Amino acid sequence: MPLTFRVIFGDSQKMLELADGSVHLVVTSPPYFNAPFDYPNLFPSYEAYLAAMRKVAEEIWRVLADGRIVCIV
Ligand SMILES: C[S@@+](CC[C@H](N)C(=O)[O-])C[C@H]1O[C@@H](n2cnc3c(N)ncnc32)[C@H](O)[C@@H]1O
Repeated sequence: MPLTFRVIFGDSQKMLELADGSVHLVVTSPPYFNAPFDYPNLFPSYEAYLAAMRKVAEEIWRVLADGRIVCIV
């Protein structure tokens, strides 16, 4: 079975390109709230940061196939 790769530059809070249950492995390193020097003004508050991470987690849950794996740094 041939392997194919697709690179998508997008927002992981809304991965419209990916169907429900279509992903078998997620490896992700989201931004850190306590590293504002890396991402100045990306998150206006800790609550906003948590809300963004929750959206990402919900999207990962949606696209992941049953019983598959997520690795989060
Ligand atoms: C801690 S860094 C991880 C860097 C990555 N491991 C690498 O080697 O390039 C977090 C990354 O998440 C990206 N990012 C921030 N918000 C995002 C979002 N909503 N969707 C996708 N990527 C996002 C940032 O631009 C940054 O590149």
